[in-house]
Amino acid sequence: MNGRATLAAAIALSASMTLAGCSSDSDAAGGKPELKVSGAFMPEPVMDDMAAGFLTVENSSGTADKLTSVTSDIADEVQIHETKDQRMQEVESFDIPADGELNLERGGNHIMFLKLKQKPKQGEKVSVELHFEKAGLIKVELPVKETTHNPKKQ
Ligand code: CU
Repeated sequence: MNGRATLAAAIALSASMTLAGCSSDSDAAGGKPELKVSGAFMPEPVMDDMAAGFLTVENSSGTADKLTSVTSDIADEVQIHETKDQRMQEVESFDIPADGELNLERGGNHIMFLKLKQKPKQGEKVSVELHFEKAGLIKVELPVKETTHNPKKQ
């Protein structure tokens, strides 16, 4: 195995991923987390009162953070759930590691909307507020996709 080539590839990859962000020397450990949310969506719910949301939070800083809660105008109650042994349960928070990411995806961790005030339909957008322990509030829009939508399966 050619260690030098692997390292060069790793550097090239991380450089292209951080181009849009600030330089990494300004956010040494102890700084504010730099979070970016991508790939957010909500499958059109089947039930009248319940829906799920999925997204990825990328942390491009040396400071870990936590997703502590989610709120939205469309539901009276929004929880964060993990899935264990095909059963979902509410959790207090999700960790977002330093220089890592949190993936909320089908079959795993997700946002759970309960007591929906209205049933979102494909093509609409649902606004949610993500609350982070250190980064504060980030608002995102979840486009409503077809019920079976799964970006991980082609
Ligand atoms: Cu759930």
